[in-house]
Amino acid sequence: PRIAVVFGGRSGEHTISCATAAGVLSAIDRERYEVVPIGITMEGQWVLVDDDPAALELRDGAPPVRVTAEGMGRGELAMRLGGGAPVALTQAGPRVLEAIDLVLPLLHGPYGEDGTIQGMLEMLGLPYAGCGVLASAAGMDKQVTKVLLADAGIATAPHVVVGPHAWKRDPEAILAACQELSYPLFVKPARAGSSLGITRVESPERLRTAIEAAREVDPKVLVESGIEGREIEVAVLGGRDDDAPRMAEPGEIAMDAARGAGEFYDYETKYLAHDAVAMVCPAPITAQERELLMDTAARAFEAIGAEGLTRVDFFLTPDGRAIVNEVNTMPGFTPFSMYPYMWRKSGMTYPELVTELIELALA
Ligand code: DAL
Ligand code: MG
Repeated sequence: PRIAVVFGGRSGEHTISCATAAGVLSAIDRERYEVVPIGITMEGQWVLVDDDPAALELRDGAPPVRVTAEGMGRGELAMRLGGGAPVALTQAGPRVLEAIDLVLPLLHGPYGEDGTIQGMLEMLGLPYAGCGVLASAAGMDKQVTKVLLADAGIATAPHVVVGPHAWKRDPEAILAACQELSYPLFVKPARAGSSLGITRVESPERLRTAIEAAREVDPKVLVESGIEGREIEVAVLGGRDDDAPRMAEPGEIAMDAARGAGEFYDYETKYLAHDAVAMVCPAPITAQERELLMDTAARAFEAIGAEGLTRVDFFLTPDGRAIVNEVNTMPGFTPFSMYPYMWRKSGMTYPELVTELIELALA
C-alpha cells in the first residue's frame, strides 16, 4: 500500500510534528509500504519532501539533523520543514493524494489534530489513521473535552471558562469567579498543545496577564485549579467499531527540579530539559490504581468518540482519585515520546506500533 505521511503544519507544534514524522519515516516498514512524505509549512503550504528524515532541515542554516530510531540529536527542536516542491492543495488532491491508500496525519495542534484535515480526507474519500472529525475536534478543545468527560462521569480539574465575549463584557466578574478555584491556577488556551500559552499562576494579581497571554493563542481560555497529584499517562490503541480499545501499562512523568525541570510540565521541560524528566513505565502504582487509570482511560476514549490512538493524561491524587488533565488524539510520537515508550514497555516495539496503526486503519 501507498502511505502518505503528512506532517509539519500551521500550529505552534510544527516542530514537534516534524520530529514525530522523522521518527515514523525512519521506522516504517519499507518492504511493506511505499511512503509519500507530504509536509505542510508553517505558512500552510503543502510540499512534497524528500523521503528521508534528514531532509527536515535545521533552521538558522545549521546542518541537518538525522533522526533515526536509535537516537535524536538535541537540535531536533529547531527543526522545521525545508526545501521540497510546493504543491497547491487543489492540485495535491488529484496529483498527490489520488493514488494513496492511507494517510497518516502526524500533525499536532490546530489545523491537523483538531478535525480539520480529518474532514478534508473524509471529503476526498481517503482512509486515514487515528481519530475522526468529532473526536479530533473535541480532544483539541479542552473545554469541550471537559463537557464530554463530565457527561460520562469522569472527573477533570475545577475550572472557569473565559469566553472571548464574556472577557470583553466583564473581566472583573471572571477574575472574581476564578477566586473560587484553588491556587496555583493553570491558565490555558482552550485549543493548543505541548503546554504552549499555559501559565502557572501563584497569586491573584498575576491572573489577568496570564489570561491575556493565553488569549494570544486562543480567544477561548480555561482557568483551572492546580491538582495535587502524580502525572500519569495512559496510551490507548485500536477501538474502532466493535474492537475494544487496548491500553498500555500506565507511565509516570517524574520531574526533577534539581535537573532543570520547570514549575510544571511545560514546553521547555517536555522537549528541551531531557535530563530533568524521567518517563517511568510501568508507573509504580498499586494494582487498584492501575485498574482505575486504565479503566478511566478507556471510558475517556469512548466519551470523546476516539478511535485509533489517544493518550489520556491524568493526575493521580494522594487519596487515589484519577483526574483527567486532557486527552491527546495525536500524541507525541517520536521514538522517545511517552506514547510509543509505554507500548514498548508493554511489549510492542516502535516499528511494530507504526505497522499496527497503519493496519488498524487499513482494515
Ligand atoms: N501535544 C503533544 C505532542 C503531546 O500530547 O504529546
Ligand atoms: Mg496536549
